[in-house]
Amino acid sequence: MNIGLIIHSQTGNTLKVAEHLKTQLTGMGHEVDLVHLLPDKPAIPGKLSDPVLLPSLQKYDGIVFGSHVEGLSLAPAMRRAMDAMPPLTGKKVACLVTQYFRQPWLGGSRSVKQMSDLCTKKRGIVKATATVQWKAEDRDARIEKAVADLSRCFA
Ligand SMILES: Cc1cc2nc3c(=O)[nH]c(=O)nc-3n(C[C@H](O)[C@H](O)[C@H](O)COP(=O)(O)O)c2cc1C
Repeated sequence: MNIGLIIHSQTGNTLKVAEHLKTQLTGMGHEVDLVHLLPDKPAIPGKLSDPVLLPSLQKYDGIVFGSHVEGLSLAPAMRRAMDAMPPLTGKKVACLVTQYFRQPWLGGSRSVKQMSDLCTKKRGIVKATATVQWKAEDRDARIEKAVADLSRCFA
């Protein structure tokens, strides 16, 4: 399967999870592009992210969208970009979110639901979602579980 990992990551956390996911999916025999969406200006730590543009998603049979949480919600830059993307009809989709706090209710759960709802609105078939809490003591285990949950849906 041709899979695109479309990742909005300001400080590298979501990107790091996506890199593990790429390794896993490649090992399963998939063709994988990891696309790091960068704003046209460098990110200022602690500030809201600047707008990003999604690449064409046409060539992918499967897509994983990844983003961080900003202010208890999906990063507005990613929300706007996904809201403006063309239909995902027939594509298998998975959603990944990273947040700082240990508690999923401090933005992680809400953000991944927003992301999943955006994919459904665009007629994508949402197969899996995952959130990783960066401050959790067992962060590495959470990353491993997220990679397992997200990759399984493309088996
Ligand atoms: C402006 C701003 C707001 C944030 N708001 C939250 C929040 O509400 N809840 C949370 O858990 N983390 C919050 N974070 C932390 C990031 O979501 C977290 O560090 C994430 O892993 C960063 O991912 P990245 O390195 O891929 O950008 C916020 C970060 C920024 C810059």
